[in-house]
Amino acid sequence: MEIPIQTICCIGAGYVGGPTMTMMASKCPDLIFNVVDINEKRIALWNNEDLSKLPVFEPGLQELIVKTRNKNLFFSTNLKEAIKSADIIFISVNTPTKTKGLGAGKSSDLKWVEASAREVARYATGYTIVVEKSTLPVRTAEVIVNILNSAKTNSKREEIRFDVLSNPEFLAEGTAIKDLDNPDRVLIGGENKNAMIELSNIYKAWVPEEKILFTNIWSSELAKLTSNAFLAQRISSINSISAICEVTGADIREVSRAIGKDSRIGSKFLDSGPGFGGSCFKKDILNLVYLAEYFGLTEVANFWESVVQINTWHQERISEIIVKKLFGTVTNKKLVILGFAFKANTNDTRESAAINICKDLLNEGANLVIHDPKVTESQIENDLNKNDTKSLDNDDCSCDEKSGCWEYSKFIYNHEIFNNAHAIIILTEWEEFRRLNWKLISKKMVPPAWVFDSRSIVNTEEVKDAGLNLWRIGSGLED
Ligand code: NAD
Ligand code: UGA
Repeated sequence: MEIPIQTICCIGAGYVGGPTMTMMASKCPDLIFNVVDINEKRIALWNNEDLSKLPVFEPGLQELIVKTRNKNLFFSTNLKEAIKSADIIFISVNTPTKTKGLGAGKSSDLKWVEASAREVARYATGYTIVVEKSTLPVRTAEVIVNILNSAKTNSKREEIRFDVLSNPEFLAEGTAIKDLDNPDRVLIGGENKNAMIELSNIYKAWVPEEKILFTNIWSSELAKLTSNAFLAQRISSINSISAICEVTGADIREVSRAIGKDSRIGSKFLDSGPGFGGSCFKKDILNLVYLAEYFGLTEVANFWESVVQINTWHQERISEIIVKKLFGTVTNKKLVILGFAFKANTNDTRESAAINICKDLLNEGANLVIHDPKVTESQIENDLNKNDTKSLDNDDCSCDEKSGCWEYSKFIYNHEIFNNAHAIIILTEWEEFRRLNWKLISKKMVPPAWVFDSRSIVNTEEVKDAGLNLWRIGSGLED
């Protein structure tokens, strides 16, 4: 028997909760979606009239917000009311790697998931389907069930009943709206078939039925971790081959094209870059490593951990190349960093390769000028711990040699950012960096000036014609 669903709650208004509920609200105008978060500032931004202030930048998101916000989609901090009225509750809170205690550095910190489950246990009424949307270690559903069951035993609200499902999210940032609109699959793991059907009914409003997969709950949790591990493994694989290209004269773009034509390998996710970033690849692989170690599967743990190790090594490798090419020292040299986000079309910097590479260069005493079209100065400051470095005071820089300094530049269009620069380092593949006027830029730089293209996006002929030296990721020949 179908249970009529009217009200949905999502706990967590982040990169997943916000866009996912917005998409659902746009596809299901008859349902009410309450997105709640403990972060008042974030909720205020989701409710801001000025859409450029939304806390998440995603192409296509603003249009959907206009269509749904305050119609059937509501952002608030009122967890109690949202939970009370909900038929389905998505838990979409952060699950970062633990920094302290048991499993530190590898296992997920589930304190936000636990807190959410406790809130649900406290306020839910009647029958509620609780959905794990966050990426979670295998068997987390058990923890949630335990917490919810304790609510039943301790509560006079005898009518409360729960089912817990796993419904991991596979969207990628920068393409979130496209991915949500046309997902490769929707995965629903659970024990109670009726509850699974109820959840699938929401997706059926726009996702073809054959793309909705039902599995047991543990397979669903593990499939999410495995999916990210496989994707990250491809990046580490291609980046490791780029290092071989650079010493042998092969070209990583040609190698990628050649192997990608094999239909068993496929052509996607074969772009060599500065190393994978983003909030999830590293944490999800480390989670898998922790799981394998817990069950005594040392070889399995080592295999997956090497994917992360190669990524770290690859980023350090790029920093070293930059220093070596600039005559072994970058102390007091002005280096322009183009791109700080972990990939294009997002304002997210979590685990961005730019953070490690900039920190390495600052440690070498460089003066960085950083520009990103969407990342704010305060975000960069958080990431680089500005207090550790001195501020760059235009031409009168007095950085000490041990730690360089950095400044933020909002614009590149007047090219002033390039004045007296020794090198330009491209770390994010933003579209505007593909169309730079190298002739003009070259005149402003200190010769012999360098361009380091870690994303293979510049027109190599134009850079060379402008008299600049070029290093490109995975290019064996001196470009
Ligand atoms: P996020 O940090 O952007 O958002 C999480 C939000 O949850 C924050 O706003 C935080 O304030 C809120 N929160 C934490 N505890 C809360 C509580 N007790 N009550 C109410 N709100 C609470 O994280 P995210 O990027 O949206 O990721 C969320 C989950 O989705 C993670 O498990 C992540 O692994 C997974 N995931 C992320 C992506 C992605 O592209 N970012 C994609 C797929 C899956
Ligand atoms: C990734 C997965 O693609 C999503 O399916 C998943 O839902 C999400 O993680 C998650 O669980 O958080 P995301 O991290 O947003 O999405 O972005 P990706 O497009 O996967 O890129 C990850 C990193 O790999 C970026 O730093 C990107 O620049 C890098 N990358 C990607 C490459 O270096 N080369 C490529 O060919 C592709």
